[in-house]
Amino acid sequence: MQLRIVHDAPESLRAGALVVPVFSDGRLEGAAAAADKAVGGALSDALQSGETKGKLGETALIHAKDLPFRRLLAVGLGERAAFEPFMLARYAGAAVRTLGRNGIEEIAIALPGEAKAATVACGAAIAEGAITGTFEMSIYQAKPEKPLAVNAVAFLRGDLDAKAFEEGVARGTIVGEAVNFARRLAVTPSNDMTPTHLANEATGAAKEAGVAIEVHDADWARKEGMGSFLSVAQGSAQPPKFIVMTYKGDPSSKELLALVGKGITFDTGGISIKPAERMEDMKYDMSGGAAVIAAMCAIGKRKPRINVVGIVPATENMPGGRATKPGDIVKAMNGKTIEVINTDAEGRLILADGLCYANKLGATRIVDAATLTGAVVIALGHAASAVVANDDAFVERFLAAAKPTGERYWRMPLYEDYSDQMKSDIADLKNTGGRAGGTLTAAAFLKAFVGDTPWVHLDVAGTAYLDRGFPWSAKGPTGTPVRAFLALIESLSS
Ligand code: BES
Ligand code: MN
Ligand code: ZN
Repeated sequence: MQLRIVHDAPESLRAGALVVPVFSDGRLEGAAAAADKAVGGALSDALQSGETKGKLGETALIHAKDLPFRRLLAVGLGERAAFEPFMLARYAGAAVRTLGRNGIEEIAIALPGEAKAATVACGAAIAEGAITGTFEMSIYQAKPEKPLAVNAVAFLRGDLDAKAFEEGVARGTIVGEAVNFARRLAVTPSNDMTPTHLANEATGAAKEAGVAIEVHDADWARKEGMGSFLSVAQGSAQPPKFIVMTYKGDPSSKELLALVGKGITFDTGGISIKPAERMEDMKYDMSGGAAVIAAMCAIGKRKPRINVVGIVPATENMPGGRATKPGDIVKAMNGKTIEVINTDAEGRLILADGLCYANKLGATRIVDAATLTGAVVIALGHAASAVVANDDAFVERFLAAAKPTGERYWRMPLYEDYSDQMKSDIADLKNTGGRAGGTLTAAAFLKAFVGDTPWVHLDVAGTAYLDRGFPWSAKGPTGTPVRAFLALIESLSS
């Protein structure tokens, strides 16, 4: 999709549709007021009659066939006092989806006056949303059921600062593309998205973004002592891959941020096999890894002053003849032994070695992301990802950076009690701790592999994919936590 910034007056703009913002107070200002005047007050009418209430993402289409813009689309931004820049991503996404479905190819989008207070963030959000709005999961349909026609978007800069707005649009374009890349990797079914294919996708994208990448195989992992990672892979006919992407934007610094993502390309549960219901969703079990790969490529393009390594242990979890069986004991890279009580608690097993490897590379901060537990869906539903951390200052930094992205994170505790639940009678640890506090016992397990490095764990099992869509977004993979990763990196590098 082609994005550009224009400075024309809204009422004289040529486009298939002009998009203007409306808040729930119904007050029309700037471009919205000018457009309303051009259509003879038809937008005011729609607001007064209650046809549109200005709810975030709500749309009202008005035809204006004799005007240079042939249609006027009002998109709601909710309550004026509650406005935040990320809402412009939803605003633009709703516009692209509504108009795109109606076969409109070229659109122009105006911004509210509120954008003046945070021009960079607003430029970023509106570009991000225009791009993420175009994503559809119908990629395997010969003739996609709901093609989105929009292929050119012009942003009406109005009186916003040109440099700040351009900078925002440039950043948002990279974020939006990274989100869609992660979503495409995640939605691709496991017969295509094998660990090998995931590594190939990462390699292609890394080359394009100027990020170094190494793809290691099972023999390498064995030499590194990654018995925990390999114990998950051994039941599968697909060879595992251990993906390492490196970006050095601050060579003089010893600081190194590690992003570690769960890359289970399909989770059957292994010998502790899952029930059939919704097992197809387990193709999404590499969403954390996809987010790491996409974020690494985005930073290759953004070039921030920071050192980042992305680590993705990738494998299937299958019940093959060589599969790990309940009661088996495996050894992770840091020498700790693990009694595998339930082979379906495999995410923590591959992350254990991923986290150890982050430390081996000298990480001074670690963030991991994983569709780790069903329990997080019980705790937080699909409304937020769980955050568990061993360092208050770092987690506060993360939460502050993530907040303006619109992705939601909710911190949960990491009491010693949860670590006690993970003690084994025969080995150092066991991989499950019973039903109580499932998200937190999983985190306590991971904690045993991060050492003293400041660490933030994101459980995105409830947020990485959704089985409903929104006016601004297709159903399916959400790209969470790509936005938060990139926001953290912006924060740490500035
Ligand atoms: N990939 C699943 C977690 C999951 C569940 C993600 C539902 C998305 C939706 C993970 O590997 C898993 O199976 N976890 C088990 C752990 C249990 C055996 C301790 C779970 O949550 O049931
Ligand atoms: Mn599992
Ligand atoms: Zn899993």
